Amino acid sequence: PPRVFSGVQPTGNLHLGNYLGAIQKFVALQHQHECLYCVVDLHAITVAQDPNELTRTIREVAAAFIAAGVDPKKNIIFNQSQVSAHAELAWILGCTARIGWLNRMTQFKEKAGKDRENASVGLYTYPVLMAADILAYRATHVPVGEDQKQHLELARDIAQKFNNDFSASISAKGYGDAFFPQPEPLIQGAAARVMSLRDGSKKMSKSDPSDQSRINLTDDADAIASKVRKAKTDPEPLPSESAGLEGRPEAANLVGIYAALAGTEQDAVLKQFGGGQFSAFKNALVDVAVAKLGPIGAEMKRLVSDPASIDAILKDGAERAHAIAAPNIAAVKDIVGFVR
Ligand code: TYM
Repeated sequence: PPRVFSGVQPTGNLHLGNYLGAIQKFVALQHQHECLYCVVDLHAITVAQDPNELTRTIREVAAAFIAAGVDPKKNIIFNQSQVSAHAELAWILGCTARIGWLNRMTQFKEKAGKDRENASVGLYTYPVLMAADILAYRATHVPVGEDQKQHLELARDIAQKFNNDFSASISAKGYGDAFFPQPEPLIQGAAARVMSLRDGSKKMSKSDPSDQSRINLTDDADAIASKVRKAKTDPEPLPSESAGLEGRPEAANLVGIYAALAGTEQDAVLKQFGGGQFSAFKNALVDVAVAKLGPIGAEMKRLVSDPASIDAILKDGAERAHAIAAPNIAAVKDIVGFVR
């Protein structure tokens, strides 16, 4: 049966890219599938985090899932470090993954920067932990933004190599032909890659030093309006067809954001606003952004003001996640040949 898994790092400043690329899709998927949505705190500490701030942001990400509309009763919302399967399976899969595969990961190169010798070992093996997150539940579908595509491909390679390396044991022990499914990335829509509001060639990111570059989920209506109105554009009016957005990354980004927020297509947006002044389009974008994000931000603030309730949701989620992962980890140990 299909099973959805995705994760979001608690590293502060959840933004419109996280919402449109991932969280909004989490909400849509919950109606058809069994879904696990994870606050990946083990991933967060691959770069230094302030402990008090980490605690706060773990709760904030859980609150964002719920505020956006993910039902914590119907779905499993939990915190990665509360389910030991992730770290356990990451070790075993780290022995399946090859150094050459990890050396090709572009996100590690970006995050480690020039001083690679000084990056944490965890930052390097980050994608193995991500594969373990997904495969511990034998998840089949993974909604993510475009920036996670390479990591998902690696997870598929790891799943396949494990199945191949242990194929004899898998079938001898009665687990069928292949133990892990090939997890399928769900990367679609106008906003699979939301760009910075200041620079259409850079993705919108939690770590951009300029707060003007992103719309945070907790921004109020004034902040959203001011950031959209100041967003970089070019002097041309909007085109009436998609082809006219070629070579205009900032305009294309704003049109994509509008389409994703309004639940429509880029072409429909251009039909409506093409030929008109950019300022009129920006006003309409402010309206749709405030209408969509305002209630989510307000609900997030309300939820985080009661940390005990969020912690109870995370604890319940961890227990339910553990119940799914535990037999899978037991099977993996059996397949590998460990004595249990
Ligand atoms: P993270 O925490 O960086 O981002 C969370 C989700 O938001 C998406 N995203 C974007 N989508 C569109 N435009 C953007 N500018 C943008 N920025 C971020 C990300 O693609 C992601 O879907 N490694 C993952 C977390 C993770 C995970 C997993 C995901 C850990 N284990 C297992 C899926 C399955 C990450 O750092 O996401």
